Amino acid sequence: MIQKIDLKYRPRKWQEEVAKELKRFSVLVVHRRGGKTVLAVMLLITAALRNTRDNGRYAYLAPLFKQAKAVAWDYLKAYSAKVPGSKVNESETFVEFSNGSRIRLFGADNPDAASWNGSGRRRSRRGRRYEIFCVG
Ligand SMILES: Nc1ncnc2c1ncn2[C@@H]1O[C@H](COP(=O)(O)OP(=O)(O)OP(=O)(O)O)[C@@H](O)[C@H]1O
Ligand SMILES: [Mg+2]
Repeated sequence: MIQKIDLKYRPRKWQEEVAKELKRFSVLVVHRRGGKTVLAVMLLITAALRNTRDNGRYAYLAPLFKQAKAVAWDYLKAYSAKVPGSKVNESETFVEFSNGSRIRLFGADNPDAASWNGSGRRRSRRGRRYEIFCVG
């Protein structure tokens, strides 16, 4: 079933171009307040919602967990709240959609993420496959 959901996100021109040109590994250099974090969150949400396999896993990683939470958590919750059926898990900092996809925040300082295995698509953390890993 295809459902159209307006997340009230209107990408800036460069954000739209990056979303189209995304490669297996993409590195962006963008000025302060340019919209990097919003873009990363929206790439994760869009991919998570489009996932047709079971239990797609998506991650946003920052050098420190508290940075991930400070910069990305509010955007992730605010945009996800517009998706019917989305659930927020505050204690494990993930959002889950009704198709089973989850987007979770990690910090590279978190021992739980210590075996984190690199960045990019389809990387694993303790054997768990991630469809997309955004590093901010
Ligand atoms: N497509 C968009 N439409 C409207 N507002 C946007 C969009 N992208 C980003 N913004 C807004 O621009 C501001 C900066 O966005 P964001 O935090 O993503 O930038 P950033 O590049 O990550 O900044 P920083 O350099 O502080 O990390 C925020 O207020 C955000 O809501
Ligand atoms: Mg940012």
